[in-house]
Amino acid sequence: MNTDSTTKLLEDIDAYVEGLFAPPDEVLEAALRESRRAGLPEINVSPNGGRLLQLFAELVGARRILEIGTLGGYSAIHFARVLPEDGTLISLELEERHAEVARANVERAGLAHKVEVQVGDARELLAALAENDAGPFDLIFIDADKEGYPEYLEWAMHLSRPGSLVLADNTVRGGSVLDPQDGSARATREFNERVAGDPRLSGIVLPLIRERIDGITIARVIDV
Ligand code: SAH
Ligand code: DHB
Ligand code: MG
Repeated sequence: MNTDSTTKLLEDIDAYVEGLFAPPDEVLEAALRESRRAGLPEINVSPNGGRLLQLFAELVGARRILEIGTLGGYSAIHFARVLPEDGTLISLELEERHAEVARANVERAGLAHKVEVQVGDARELLAALAENDAGPFDLIFIDADKEGYPEYLEWAMHLSRPGSLVLADNTVRGGSVLDPQDGSARATREFNERVAGDPRLSGIVLPLIRERIDGITIARVIDV
């Protein structure tokens, strides 16, 4: 099979799954529309990716979730929807502008009471969360600057308990992790290697179809 027809087939499969499990949703579409209108980059997880994140939160019965990289709140809305009414999602975002759009989107979704967007460099915000004993979180989703992934994994361990789930987006990036040519691919590769090599973690990389092949790393914390 040539590359074009493989790509077409992957896209058709993605659309097929989306049609089944991520049907049109007014609130999510509004969040994307408003994010686009505000000029945010269109790098949110895909509808199927969002469903997968949501399902993981349900599987672990998450009551406290930490997200690193909010953007316009698209993935945050997925998480918040499956949190119990007294559950909490803390989402960390570098850009004040992104955080404002996310807060408005979360508010429109009727989920503001469950979501706290903190603005700043995740490295500093994570240190403050650890300092303030804000953990443990049931699920931690890493989706900010790829160069930071190895460091975010360290913080995720500090903010976890045995049984916590650590997820990370974009850990395949079209296969760039196979032969990294830039800092972000190198850091992503290092992240996957650390997850694989850490006896305190039980994990896998799950390749995912989007416009191209990407993936999400899934790790269960065995011990902190
Ligand atoms: N999780 C979102 C997408 C996040 S995109 C979704 O799927 O809907 C990555 C986000 O991380 C961007 O908004 C970017 O501004 C933010 N980011 C980049 N570097 C960061 C840092 N050092 N600390 C916190 N956020 C950062
Ligand atoms: C980029 C970042 C993401 O989190 C993503 O899902 C896709 C692309 C990026 O920085 O290009
Ligand atoms: Mg991402």
